[in-house]
Amino acid sequence: MKITVVGAGAVGATVADNIARKELCQELVLLDIKEGFSQGKAMDMMQTANLLGFDTKVSGSTNDYAKTAGSSVVVITSGIPRKPGMTREELIGTNASIVKGVAENILKHSPDAVIIVISNPMDTMTYLALKSTGLPKNRIIGMGGILDSARFRFNLSNALQCSPGDLQATVIGGHGDTTMIPLTRLATYQSMPVSSFLDAETLNKVAADTMVGGATLTKLIGTSAWYAPGASGCALVESVIRDEKKVFPCCVYLDGEYGQKDICMGVPVVIGKNGWEKILDYQLNAQEQEAFNKSAEAVRNMNSVLSTLKL
Ligand code: 2OP
Repeated sequence: MKITVVGAGAVGATVADNIARKELCQELVLLDIKEGFSQGKAMDMMQTANLLGFDTKVSGSTNDYAKTAGSSVVVITSGIPRKPGMTREELIGTNASIVKGVAENILKHSPDAVIIVISNPMDTMTYLALKSTGLPKNRIIGMGGILDSARFRFNLSNALQCSPGDLQATVIGGHGDTTMIPLTRLATYQSMPVSSFLDAETLNKVAADTMVGGATLTKLIGTSAWYAPGASGCALVESVIRDEKKVFPCCVYLDGEYGQKDICMGVPVVIGKNGWEKILDYQLNAQEQEAFNKSAEAVRNMNSVLSTLKL
């Protein structure tokens, strides 16, 4: 079993580190365009193997896609991260051609891989990867909703003073500061609605803080976050590799589901060995559906920028 992570920056390296620690594969290839960079990160990780007790063999590759041949899952994290004050959407000009090139190169050597896209603006990069490769829709998954939901649970657990593990809470829609939709109505604390414990004002603040969760971290750190994005990417890889059939909110191609067509957006899906296997229907109320439609409009506008770029 082999997994490839493309992009050895902070997010890519953290996804790889989590995968290695969990021994999700025998062989893990970290690929980057910067000479020696991925080899260095791989060596650093391998020097923890005896301390942490894992057997996965991590190796680096400077842009040599032949080394990634035969991967079952490929995670794309390539591209530039955002700087303080930047939106994810502002990255499209630089990241679109990178993601398109990476997806095409990957498929030359791993034609059966499930592809996970983390590069931003993630909803548009997922759509681009799907359209440019022509892969079956189930094999392209954008990772954003898992991360946003983890941030939602973190914020809820602070407000409730409870363990985040006791919470069920999901964010759907786009992976943007204004496009994500934390579903407060459906959030529960050990099966009880969180609205029984928190007033509307607190819940609205939790939702608002969740939506700017990435921007808050970017401002504090000076670049975008990596621990939670890395753990989220790994959780998705794990459900594919172990065929866990876990339900995660992921960015997938919609063909009428949630009232949208020809767009990739975050909805709850079952993740297994074939990629995303089924979309679940949350039965949104009118207000939530309106928010979803508005989010789709913004994502669609961003997707339309693709046709103006020289890719
Ligand atoms: C974030 O929200 C990297 O988009 C990612 O931190």
